[in-house]
Amino acid sequence: MKDLVILGIESSCDETSAAVVKNGREVLSNVISSQINIHKKYGGVVPEIASRKHVESIVPVVSKALLEANKTLDDIDIIGVTKGPGLVGALLVGVSFAKALSFSTKKTLVGVNHIEGHICANYLQHKDLEPPFICLVVSGGHSHIVYVKDYNTFEILGQTRDDAAGEAFDKISRALGLGYPGGPIIDKCARDGNPHKIEFPRVHFKDGTFDFSFSGLKTSVLNYINTMTQKNEPINVPDVCASFQQAVIDVLVKNTLECARIKKISKIAIAGGVASNSLLRKTFLDECNKLGYKCYYPNPILCTDNAAMIACSAYYEYLNGNISDFNLDAYPSLKLG
Ligand code: KG4
Ligand code: ZN
Repeated sequence: MKDLVILGIESSCDETSAAVVKNGREVLSNVISSQINIHKKYGGVVPEIASRKHVESIVPVVSKALLEANKTLDDIDIIGVTKGPGLVGALLVGVSFAKALSFSTKKTLVGVNHIEGHICANYLQHKDLEPPFICLVVSGGHSHIVYVKDYNTFEILGQTRDDAAGEAFDKISRALGLGYPGGPIIDKCARDGNPHKIEFPRVHFKDGTFDFSFSGLKTSVLNYINTMTQKNEPINVPDVCASFQQAVIDVLVKNTLECARIKKISKIAIAGGVASNSLLRKTFLDECNKLGYKCYYPNPILCTDNAAMIACSAYYEYLNGNISDFNLDAYPSLKLG
């Protein structure tokens, strides 16, 4: 089969990214322009600012991705772009740009689900990985346990009923005055703390689902901080970080392993920004080793929002005949599957 070269475009949140990927799995370039330093001072992503920054960055980012891959637009076969879920204004920048580029170059357009993109990051990292497998997708916006039946068929086995895992990290970090984004800061700070010092709640639903809930945990940590402050007692920040992080990870790992057991699947992958968490990676690796399962996770640069994963997903969508036309729109609440 002829090589297929895909240009991926991602703009669903606060990263403008473009990548060139060959045959779905070979990354020729992956340029990420992060807006984190701009949003930091507001303690989170400001949607209007994010859209404006995407408008400024998209042309230089795409040009850089082509240059680094040593390709021109003539060499591109498919343009893959994130169509949702995400911030509507941010998504529209990528979708409009990709549609215009597809129209002017007559290249095939493929709209991609961002969550499927995160799952696909594992294909870029692990050339041997093939479905079926169970994937835990945990980021600032979503927390899903997904049964990846084949490259295009996904079944959600569990998901958050309130906050996403990354959102919980970000909120606790803010409450402790540690900064944004909270995940990497808490990950680091927790290394100096005792994960069993404070007993925070772990929610497991008794209705047969593998859903998550992190809002009770978040409230419990906030109550702890407030009570200590009112009593004028010192807060041991590393202990709070470690105990909170342990509570999140216990639930994520337990539910995911239970899904693997029920589906009789011995391959587990993790994806999304929170998949960079050092304790989450270590815990999955240790547990999978004990059970004789194979464990997969991408390098941190492929865990965060990036366009290489979108190009990979576009490749498998294209092979399945899922091609978009110029009616393609931004779908902020797009569901998986
Ligand atoms: O996938 P991502 O870059 O963007 C979304 O699609 O949301 O994920 C960002 C989220 C943030 O909430 C951030 O705090 C979290 O991932 N995160 C982490 C770590 N690195 C990033 N959470 C825990 N530990 C980390 N090391
Ligand atoms: Zn994401």
